[in-house]
Amino acid sequence: MTDVSPLYGLRLRTPRLELRLGSREELVELARLAERGVHPPEEMPFAIAWTDRVGEPEFVDEFVAWHEGHLESWSPERWTLNLLVWVGGELAGTQGLLAEQFAERQVVSTGSWLGLEHQGRGIGTEMRAAVVELAFRGLGARRAESSWLDGNEASRRVSEKLGYVGLATRTQSPRGEPVADHVVAIERRDWRSPVAVEIAGVEPCLPLFDGRASLQA
Ligand SMILES: CC(C)(COP(=O)(O)OP(=O)(O)OC[C@H]1O[C@@H](n2cnc3c(N)ncnc32)[C@H](O)[C@@H]1OP(=O)(O)O)[C@@H](O)C(=O)NCCC(=O)NCCS
Repeated sequence: MTDVSPLYGLRLRTPRLELRLGSREELVELARLAERGVHPPEEMPFAIAWTDRVGEPEFVDEFVAWHEGHLESWSPERWTLNLLVWVGGELAGTQGLLAEQFAERQVVSTGSWLGLEHQGRGIGTEMRAAVVELAFRGLGARRAESSWLDGNEASRRVSEKLGYVGLATRTQSPRGEPVADHVVAIERRDWRSPVAVEIAGVEPCLPLFDGRASLQA
């Protein structure tokens, strides 16, 4: 198993947010936040319909195991960093950054969610900007990708506001019926973060990401 302990020292700070890995207790708190609601029940914004399992007795344990599993199976060739997001000390959601064969491809993807009570206040845009800054400035990525399922206007708008452009359309079937999934991307040369992002503790993590820091002093 890869020693991922340096990742626990990684901190991203924006004017309103702090992003870092969570302890087991904090992951349980995040699961409880998901149980209080991430989206209206008639909608499904995720390619994998994990929120449909809210309310099942194993939900919290499986949720925590899913987060911890990404760290247990971490390798520089294939990694998923799911940072927890705090707004003024309150846990609001999670922002993920993932890549495969990063050293060769230099491409990252993202995924995220916020508890319903935290949505619609610009937090989703700020937390995406934080991990894209980590990817471009901290790790030396060349392109960041994301995708939004048909009907997910909030996710579509976050990407649009940050300058992503359409790349491809594929199909996902989270609840059995096919839904168009729009892949969008932004290149490093086109990226301007709308917020200042402070990145701390990335140097010891670079071998884990197979990344190359280009942080300015
Ligand atoms: C997607 C998500 C992370 C975005 O975070 P957020 O904090 O709500 O997003 P922001 O407030 O930064 O921006 C949302 C933008 O979408 C717009 N928007 C939101 N819902 C909308 C709707 N139904 N129709 C049109 N625009 C909408 C907002 O007006 C805002 O744009 P604006 O700043 O131009 O007004 C959050 O809404 C969420 O967790 N949703 C449920 C889970 C999810 O969809 N995750 C992503 C799946 S990959």
